[in-house]
Amino acid sequence: MDKQAKIDWLSTHFLEEPTAGARELTSFWHQDEDLQRILDGFSENTISNFPLPFGIAPNFMINGKVYAVPMVIEESSVVAAAASAAKFWLPLGGFHTEVVDTVKLGQLHFRWSGTTERWQALFPVLEKRLRLEATHLTANMEQRGGGILRLDWLRKAEIAPDYYQLRVSFETCDSMGANFINSVLEQFGATLQQWAISAPELTAEERKLQILMAILSNYTPDCVVKAWVECTMEDMQKTLKTGDDVRHFCHKFETAVNIAVHDPYRAVTHNKGIFNGIDSVVLATANDFRAIEACGHAYAARDGQYRSLSRCIIKDDTFRFELEIPLALGTVGGLTKLHPLAKMSLQILGQPSARELMQVIAATGLAQNFGALRSLVTTGIQAGHMKMHLQNILIHFGATPAQIEEAKAHFADRTVSFTAVREFMAQYNIIH
Ligand code: MEV
Repeated sequence: MDKQAKIDWLSTHFLEEPTAGARELTSFWHQDEDLQRILDGFSENTISNFPLPFGIAPNFMINGKVYAVPMVIEESSVVAAAASAAKFWLPLGGFHTEVVDTVKLGQLHFRWSGTTERWQALFPVLEKRLRLEATHLTANMEQRGGGILRLDWLRKAEIAPDYYQLRVSFETCDSMGANFINSVLEQFGATLQQWAISAPELTAEERKLQILMAILSNYTPDCVVKAWVECTMEDMQKTLKTGDDVRHFCHKFETAVNIAVHDPYRAVTHNKGIFNGIDSVVLATANDFRAIEACGHAYAARDGQYRSLSRCIIKDDTFRFELEIPLALGTVGGLTKLHPLAKMSLQILGQPSARELMQVIAATGLAQNFGALRSLVTTGIQAGHMKMHLQNILIHFGATPAQIEEAKAHFADRTVSFTAVREFMAQYNIIH
């Protein structure tokens, strides 16, 4: 079926009003047919586009350079919170970041009937052969400064008595490297299989080798970036317009972070707030947010208990808030240059390297976390959240642009709730 036929089939079988539904789906097609073809090509059975807001959080000073950070997110208060945290830290030195390391990982899982001792003895020569037979895949990456770093092998008898694993470390430079890693691992699998069949030094028993899987690991605990903000409480007090007691705020904030360090129920929500910021930029740059999330949450549980990814330390008069997070990202390859808006995001960020993007994204996660906690320990989250959500509720009630403006003025000093907005809209005789 072509795209129109798929829509017709879908609307006939699954939509309540087939004609109107089909029209709505096609109304989201991009008017530029070439561009639409590119978008359709990203996935299978594409019938339309699903728009999400593309926003900007300005004033992000990171290591002395100011960024406007592109964020793609549907939750109304996320960009506002990031922008407000960025503005808060701007006069206080902004965000500081540091890439700890950029090692990516892959695994070749296989079964082999030889002993550990024999494997140990045979492996040095085999490793050379594995690397050699993968050079057609690695040459390009090596020219860019990356490639295969190390090959480690392990056995896990708890999986199966003959289970072996090759754990391979890679440097993939500015690409996330998933395709590169998987191709190299599959080549390793082919080499290994061939070795088992033909290597003269093997006994008949040792020829029994079965490749199970060749796949990257999305857990990259050595592809890590740190971001932090730091200032004296005295300086923070000076930048605040209100007479609020900064010390009181800082200590409350520190306790809030410590709760998330020790209590997994709070830690999940706390880290979700961090990922509000992280995922938005990951999505805006067409990186793989599922990989980022899966890895980040595993890292949060690396000592056996799920904990906050951020820490707050108050020492003497200094307040420091920091985040350490693994981020496997790319600024070349994948959709980064294919998706027109991802390309635009990278342009807005000044065509960053993957390392620079790691730092921008970590800073955004920290900003998001700061913004959420600042609200939580002061006004509460709902005041800001519902103010931002007001427009969505008004649109639900069919408010016109003029009514939206009136409502914003009306709710400037009132609590926003679904019922309060319904009551406000009642004056226009709109029944829902
Ligand atoms: C909402 O999307 C995120 C927060 O719940 C995060 C947090 O509680 O720290 C506000």
